[in-house]
Amino acid sequence: MRLTCTSDLWWKNAVIYCLDVETFKDGDDDGIGDFRGLTQQIDYLAGLGVTCLWLMPFFPTPNRDDGYDITDFYSVDPRLGTLGDFVEFMRTARDRGLRVIADLVVNHTSDRHPWFLDARSSRDSRYRDWYVWSDRPEPDDPSQIVFPDKENSIWQFDDQSGQYYLHSFYRHQPDLNVGNPEVRDEIARILGFWMELGLSGFRVDAVPFLIQNVHPQLASPHEFLADLRAFMTRRSGGSVLLGEVNVPYEELTEYFGAGLGDQLTMCFDFIGMQRAWLAMARSEAEPLAQALRERPTPPKDCQWAVFLRNHDELTLDKLTEAERKEVFDAFGPEPRMQIYGRGLRRRLPGMFGGDLRRIKMAYSLLFSLPGTPVVFYGEEIGMGENLDAEGRMAVRVPMQWSREGGFSQAEPERDMPEGAFSPARVNVADQKRDGDSLLRWFQLLIERYRECPELAWGAHTVLESGHPSVLAHRCDADGATVLAVHNLCDTAAEIDLTLDGLDGQILTDLLMDGRLEVGGDGGVHIPLTPHGCRWFRASEPEVPPEDASIKAR
Ligand code: NOJ
Repeated sequence: MRLTCTSDLWWKNAVIYCLDVETFKDGDDDGIGDFRGLTQQIDYLAGLGVTCLWLMPFFPTPNRDDGYDITDFYSVDPRLGTLGDFVEFMRTARDRGLRVIADLVVNHTSDRHPWFLDARSSRDSRYRDWYVWSDRPEPDDPSQIVFPDKENSIWQFDDQSGQYYLHSFYRHQPDLNVGNPEVRDEIARILGFWMELGLSGFRVDAVPFLIQNVHPQLASPHEFLADLRAFMTRRSGGSVLLGEVNVPYEELTEYFGAGLGDQLTMCFDFIGMQRAWLAMARSEAEPLAQALRERPTPPKDCQWAVFLRNHDELTLDKLTEAERKEVFDAFGPEPRMQIYGRGLRRRLPGMFGGDLRRIKMAYSLLFSLPGTPVVFYGEEIGMGENLDAEGRMAVRVPMQWSREGGFSQAEPERDMPEGAFSPARVNVADQKRDGDSLLRWFQLLIERYRECPELAWGAHTVLESGHPSVLAHRCDADGATVLAVHNLCDTAAEIDLTLDGLDGQILTDLLMDGRLEVGGDGGVHIPLTPHGCRWFRASEPEVPPEDASIKAR
């Protein structure tokens, strides 16, 4: 594959690392992470091999939704530093070759945002029409309530001005009226501001909610997304919008800009993620294989973002009730591990009972899946959750740098997990010294993923493995092939694959030492250990594997 493509369209095989400045590293000893602390850890992130950092919201906030409730879109929360600290961080990240994107949370503001304070002050105030008001809202449909533990309606009566306002999330997060052209202009201004400061794009929060109110003013709500993307592209051709769009595949293609690819550059694959968990719960490849077969190919230059865990609950809302129960039974049987009736508030290693073989296989699977992998900070060392923390905060624990914690010289504002996942057992410093650690495994996976752009760019095919627990898939681009095989069960497996067009070629194992020969009929026999995983590059016998991608062109 021609690598020059991968620099222009950098997002197609990026490795995205999501972190919250607040929980990553404290640089001023007040128990709260900040930009100065994060900047000191830049070489750790560069060394890990990730190529793009996604910063969770770092803007001024009353912090009633962990920063997703914003009072000023143009500044840095004073607890996390200053705009000056942000710029120094950006400069240092750029020097290490790291791109940075940030959360764009413009479906709503905090109810303490000056716009909303003005809007509710009277019905004819300057900002009244920046929010969505109603005298008599439609009765609630329970499926619209995102946080059923705290809310029972998406409308809240405002005593001050005597009308209801819409809030798709918490009542302290009034929805902005994106149908108002002034609001749309302001959103573009916010994008433009942060792009001037060096951001390469945005993770767009809650996209389906964001565009739901646009309709009356534009031909289609999607026109708004296309306008935003065009604005960004005018300012900087390589900037991206990565959308949080948890809808069925049939609806999702619209968000890329069906056919044109002129809306979101990337969308998270929520369906594939949920099917992957079902597959792992059953130790059966089929649910994931089916998702891969059904998943639409994104329009040219667009990409899927693949992930296993994020900062929210592990949502299983797109599985059937019976399937969800299977995942709950396997990975979060206790009620305190579950949340909202649809998800788990756990990190991945806890769900696997700390079984390192299984954890390593799961991440190998993640990095081999067609798309751009997104990891949540701490996944690379196998951090666990703190179930004593409230709700989704269970997984948003401070980063564990050393046996003592190493996050702060002061008492951290948030508690770290205890027991098997405490910093004494799980930390960066120890894993750096251990060649078999999860951290070293992540570095290897990232290195190989970057060396195999076929995985992200290629056409993928799920192969018939003949074994219910083994997922085998190949990715082909420009005549080069990478093959990945994953055993989802805890017993050894042997499979026979037929690799069309690869007869007589050599398969070089990319994760361990080893080679296999493909027979004249395209057949190959592959043994796998319990929870084993193998990646192979195919090459002609006379071509060294490292040149196979070039020679293929
Ligand atoms: C989605 C975010 O991921 C979640 O953490 C947040 O609570 C809601 N959007 C509301 O902003």
